[in-house]
Amino acid sequence: MTDLKSFLNDRAPADLSRLLLNIASASLQVRRSLPFTTRLTRGVNPSGERQTEIDLYANEVFASTLLATGTVSEVASEEMAEPRKGVGRLHVAMDPLDGSSNIATNNLLGSIFGFYSASLPCSGEHMVGAAFITYGPMLTLTYTTGAGVHTFVAAEGREGDPFILMEESSVIPSEPEVYGLGGQRSEWIEPVATFVSSLEGRGLKLRYGGTFVGDFNQVLRRGGIFGYPALKNKPHGKLRVLYEAAPMALITKNAGGYASDGARDVLSIEPSALAETTPLYLGSAGLVREVEAMISGPRARAPGS
Ligand code: F6P
Ligand code: MN
Repeated sequence: MTDLKSFLNDRAPADLSRLLLNIASASLQVRRSLPFTTRLTRGVNPSGERQTEIDLYANEVFASTLLATGTVSEVASEEMAEPRKGVGRLHVAMDPLDGSSNIATNNLLGSIFGFYSASLPCSGEHMVGAAFITYGPMLTLTYTTGAGVHTFVAAEGREGDPFILMEESSVIPSEPEVYGLGGQRSEWIEPVATFVSSLEGRGLKLRYGGTFVGDFNQVLRRGGIFGYPALKNKPHGKLRVLYEAAPMALITKNAGGYASDGARDVLSIEPSALAETTPLYLGSAGLVREVEAMISGPRARAPGS
């Protein structure tokens, strides 16, 4: 069995390896606290969403863990109005607990991290790695530092490093199986509604749980498309560029897929604010290019695609 520490050893820069190992152990602490932190607080995050106790707890655990590594010059979080400063090369943007409203129904939760080499906010082109955690029946860590997308599962109780290799070099399957889109159907912009109707006819199945990490993870493993589209009443979508869209776009790209905002590669978006949102479509490259062309016309297609 290959563990995370030895796998990272000769595959990732030392500072990124250190961050990933610390994120992995902090995620175990977050999971252990889940049963004790299920209530809503009175607070709202910078996007105006009600915070749960676990949002705040996970934010504290991950922010303090990351800063204590001595490799992080700032941590920006969906749950904080301003980044926290530290010392180091890397700039981290995180959604410490994605899908936290799902805690009430015990559906899957997640955490998302983007590792940047420039001050935040900046485009995803400055990303040097990304990772996400799933808190489901299994706690998993999926990451990329450029060369492939790899997944480790927490096998607690085992001696030594509990994170063992589950899947190396994931590639989004070429035959798409599933799709999931957020927002109400009646609010989807017209090209998205037309595109989604065609997916059922092509044999894809709807899979939507309401947590980005979980819904994306299905697309990564089974092929298909996830979207939180531009809505008629929310033209900039819901998901945040820095904390959610760009990190998952990098993982998608490094697994052979593509992520678009409906007109361009999500990694090229230059957000002007930390909590800026974007419409998002990601997964199997062919499907994403198709919906992009329906929204913006064939000019949005990359040459040769
Ligand atoms: O972080 C926002 C989020 O909770 C995502 O995890 C998820 O994809 C989305 O909101 C779900 O939104 P809705 O409830 O509108 O489908
Ligand atoms: Mn989220």
